[in-house]
Amino acid sequence: MAKPTDFAIERTASAVSAQRRADILGDPGFGRYFTDHMCVMEWTPEKGWYAARIKPYGPFSVDPASSVLHYAQEIFEGLKAYRHADGSVWTFRPEVNAARFQQSAARMALPHLPEDLFLQAIEALVRTDSDWVPEGGGERSLYLRPFMFASEVFLGVRPSKHVTFAVIASPAGPYFPGGLEPVSIWLSEEFTRAAPGGTGAAKCGGNYAASLIAQAEAIDNGCDQVVFLDAANKHDIEELGGMNIFFVHGDGTIVTPRLNGSILEGVTRASVLALAEELGYRAEERSVSIEQWREGVVSGDIEEVFACGTAAVVTPVGLLKWRGGQLSCGDESGKVTTTIRERLLDVQYGRVDDAHGWLHRLV
Ligand code: COI
Repeated sequence: MAKPTDFAIERTASAVSAQRRADILGDPGFGRYFTDHMCVMEWTPEKGWYAARIKPYGPFSVDPASSVLHYAQEIFEGLKAYRHADGSVWTFRPEVNAARFQQSAARMALPHLPEDLFLQAIEALVRTDSDWVPEGGGERSLYLRPFMFASEVFLGVRPSKHVTFAVIASPAGPYFPGGLEPVSIWLSEEFTRAAPGGTGAAKCGGNYAASLIAQAEAIDNGCDQVVFLDAANKHDIEELGGMNIFFVHGDGTIVTPRLNGSILEGVTRASVLALAEELGYRAEERSVSIEQWREGVVSGDIEEVFACGTAAVVTPVGLLKWRGGQLSCGDESGKVTTTIRERLLDVQYGRVDDAHGWLHRLV
């Protein structure tokens, strides 16, 4: 099995200048800039994983008949590298991302990538491009995007016999440009994201492709994000376009929709459930209908709503909007949302004790 030191390293001859990199790290936005290198590996049934390498960041050469372009056999992950005050670089619960990547791969008939190879790929890339990990102020981090796709040149519909795995890295600030400002959510009544027996619990590109028309509808209606209901009954809340959702009740209970096979099991979602308990709240996973959201806010039972994800961290939700109506859920980040968000960031940036052993040192 390859070790980080076994990854062949081809360094770029045209690295971004230190001045340009500093400018980018000062205001990275989200997903706009990429580091100097990337990690790539190949797989075939005969060879298993091979050709693990770090190489200059750049385009793949993709044959027009590569099966991913036709049948969307593709999965991905999202995690971050955080720079601590002493300069060291850490990532958060990468073994959970590795396990979810394996589950997504199984659902999408892609090959199994062992956890240690997933971790070694991340480690090799972050060590090579460690200068790209920003100082931690303002929620800045290096967003890591591992992905795997069907690269066999073949138009028959069957699992690909050539697969490519890669990791790219992108310096990131807040996902939403408004930072901690509450976001607005559009209720998708026509489109659903995932159906029972489908791929909702897998982190595959197709789920996000299916969400885009509803996300575009959200933007057309002045909203930041879309919320999807369950496909069977269009009754229960599932998740937003790229993040999970939580409701804070007046009695101190924090509720998120229970996993039903079509909701993505977010790493941040699981961490928020654990941190909430630790902070003295009662955390529950149960079905929440769209009516319960509306009625809960109107009656005052639901006091705060927030979204969470690796990219979104913990972001307050200020407005729910639908065709013909809207409901204010709060003009600013609520006390519980802010407390949970701060605790999560404190753990990720090493400002409090890592009681759960969630951090994994990279550099
Ligand atoms: C993440 O939070 O890492 C995601 O993959 C979601 C996407 C909205 C960026």
